[in-house]
Amino acid sequence: MTPLAAIDFSKRDEAPLDEASLVREYPQLIKYMGSKAKIINFVAESISSIHDGGVVCDLFSGASSLSGALGAAYPIISNDIQHYSAHIASVYLKPIQDFNVDELYESAKINYCQAKNKIGKDLEYVGFTSLAEFNEIEERNRLLINRNFRHKYHLFLKSYSGTWWSAEQCIWIDAIKQAIDDRIKSKEWGSAEYSLAMSVLMHAMAYTSQGTGHYAQYRDAKTDSSMQDINIYRQKKLQDIFLRKLNQILVWSKNSVIDLKHTITTLDYKDCLARLSGGTVYADPPYAFVHYSRFYHAMETLALYDFPDLQVKGGHVVKGRYREIRHQSPFCIKSQVEGAFVDLFSGIQKSGSNLALSYSHTAMISLEHLLRISERVLKSNFEVWVEELDHKHMTMGRQNDRHREVKELILLARKKK
Ligand SMILES: C[S@@+](CC[C@H](N)C(=O)[O-])C[C@H]1O[C@@H](n2cnc3c(N)ncnc32)[C@H](O)[C@@H]1O
Repeated sequence: MTPLAAIDFSKRDEAPLDEASLVREYPQLIKYMGSKAKIINFVAESISSIHDGGVVCDLFSGASSLSGALGAAYPIISNDIQHYSAHIASVYLKPIQDFNVDELYESAKINYCQAKNKIGKDLEYVGFTSLAEFNEIEERNRLLINRNFRHKYHLFLKSYSGTWWSAEQCIWIDAIKQAIDDRIKSKEWGSAEYSLAMSVLMHAMAYTSQGTGHYAQYRDAKTDSSMQDINIYRQKKLQDIFLRKLNQILVWSKNSVIDLKHTITTLDYKDCLARLSGGTVYADPPYAFVHYSRFYHAMETLALYDFPDLQVKGGHVVKGRYREIRHQSPFCIKSQVEGAFVDLFSGIQKSGSNLALSYSHTAMISLEHLLRISERVLKSNFEVWVEELDHKHMTMGRQNDRHREVKELILLARKKK
């Protein structure tokens, strides 16, 4: 076993491939905590320095920046336990057939008009002259959770009006989702077209949400200034943002997606590793105690559209209206994090893959500890070293510390020949 002191932290004994030819430009779809979009060249360079053929597996793909950037360079396996991630990966990896955007929009508009007839005008954010009046409209929107609707596509209208979105925006979310589903049911679309439209809907949701980029908590209007800011989002036309992005993504997809027989899965990382043989794994697990399934529950609910039970505390649905059943990642639980990394390294060892593991200093586990685990599990069959890059980290808050200096690190483990 290599003693820890013998691990070379700055090893780079082979020139990386020409990254310029590997990394393609791609449009981002959602705002995502811990997204590697900003450091994707560093990630790509690290992967190319250890890759010796076969697939590149993005084990915790999230917003799928790796597929966006490297989908034309390697056959990719994109995996994440959350279903929304699979839709986004598909945009970057799966070629689509032409489809008629106007027809999709017209059919969503019909759905919208039908649903809109079922709610009152007093839900609209117009004519208020004070903070109190604005909050009354907010409350009326939120109270829709107690109403029963007879039309099938009412999940967002009922559960999320007056939270991250207004009732008006929620009706559009449901209406567009219905139009998308109709095209799958009629077999006009395949799964690639479906995922593309769903991802663009998630994009429109992200850019109309009054929250800070995730769905852990929506903001309350406590002052005139927060009311004004929230109202900017309440007035945004979700359907216009959807249409604009859809047209842009369709052009990008046609010009940039290459069918390299990519695979997309929604497995637990251990199960994904168990199916893998060779290639290189890029692992970017969560590093904080916050669960992605809570921060992005609304996207998961859109992806599943399953009318989930919402979490209840003290007899009331919790403010964030989270799905009751959500994935709890062992990487986010202090008592499980070590075991989670042991399983990760052990999966790598068994699959005979190389590993590029992103590490953040905000982690619940120290780098030294991680290296000791890698040493123990990978034994002497792998060379292990660490590369580092300084960059500004996005915290997804509206505080002044929105950007904090964080060192991004990647632990590389390459099979010895
Ligand atoms: C740091 S994010 C990945 C960000 C991604 N690299 C990007 O650039 O967007 C971590 C991801 O791990 C996923 N995840 C957490 N636990 C998981 C598990 N047990 N198996 C698979 N994915 C998991 C989360 O859903 C989340 O999307």
